[in-house]
Amino acid sequence: ASYDAGEHDSFMYKEMLEQPAAAERVLRGRLDERFGTAHLGGLNMDPRETRAIRRVKILGCGSAYYVGQMGAALVEELARIPADAEAASEFRYRDPVIEPDTLYVAVSQSGETLDTLLAVQEIRRKGGRVVGLVNVVGSAIARACDGGIYLHAGPEVAVASTKALTNMFLGFALLSLQLGRVRDLSIADGNRLIAGLARIPEQIAEILQREEELAEVARRLAGSESLFFIGRVRGFPVAREGAQKFKEISYRHAEAYQTSELKHGPLALISEGVPTVAIVPDDELTSRNVGALHEIAARRGPLVVVTHEGVDLGDVDAMRIDVPRNERELDPILLTVPLQVLAYHAALHLGHDIDKPRNLAKSVTVE
Ligand code: AGP
Repeated sequence: ASYDAGEHDSFMYKEMLEQPAAAERVLRGRLDERFGTAHLGGLNMDPRETRAIRRVKILGCGSAYYVGQMGAALVEELARIPADAEAASEFRYRDPVIEPDTLYVAVSQSGETLDTLLAVQEIRRKGGRVVGLVNVVGSAIARACDGGIYLHAGPEVAVASTKALTNMFLGFALLSLQLGRVRDLSIADGNRLIAGLARIPEQIAEILQREEELAEVARRLAGSESLFFIGRVRGFPVAREGAQKFKEISYRHAEAYQTSELKHGPLALISEGVPTVAIVPDDELTSRNVGALHEIAARRGPLVVVTHEGVDLGDVDAMRIDVPRNERELDPILLTVPLQVLAYHAALHLGHDIDKPRNLAKSVTVE
């Protein structure tokens, strides 16, 4: 069957709107309320092998790497296993130590990204176990892994990835749930997460319905040559992904920073002409984040704040974007969706080719 953008002006727009349906597909049949866990038969791992994992190492490129960072946080929070993400493009060049009790996870929409594929091959050559979070069935990376979780996002055409990334995050939530439930995560906590996951598709739809309000914010941001995206801990990979999407299609210089690091350097650049998009969820860091907003406002930096309803930003003058509340662990994906819409509308406003940004390819199959 042929696949086109239909009535939409671009594939990116169509794919953004498909996210609620795509999210339902990645969750379908995988949530088990009786045991508060996830069923992931494709991993090819029995409970004993799953319990033996001492560390999780996630590898991907670009946005897949940033979602990998979100995934590492999920694994640590839910399964209490040390986890981190690394750019697959760097991994094999530093002669990495491959450990038998580490679970390696390769993340890729296309399944054809050469840097990620070569990282998988390097791990397997050294005897490591790799599972894939891959969208394209039967792709090179999917075939090279020991097992995996297919993302079921459907075909993604736009260079700027949206629905595949959302499903990667949900894939990590499922993996973390399963890793957690063979360890110390209680059935009640498992079910708390399951209930949260079940709400995600409609909550994404809610955010997408506020497109006009987001478009207005995007048009204001599009005028600036340079902007910051900031966040802390769970919010930092969200900021990285937000900056990535923005620069890919609007060609504006968008730099992600940890909010906590602002005063160690980049604050020098904050001025009237340099807006900041700040990720400020309602969590244990809210008041510290709000403190940083004051620092920015004092230097007349324009602010867009992605937050939750009820978060008190004090007297800071900001364009505010509230996202629906869910379990804190799942916040990153709901904080990310409005950033896609901002990038899309900034690029549209600037008149760029949304689906084929200059210098970029959908999947990078060369080194
Ligand atoms: C996403 O918007 C980017 N175009 C890019 O960073 C992409 O995520 C990266 O190249 C990895 O692609 P993959 O998921 O197909 O491996």
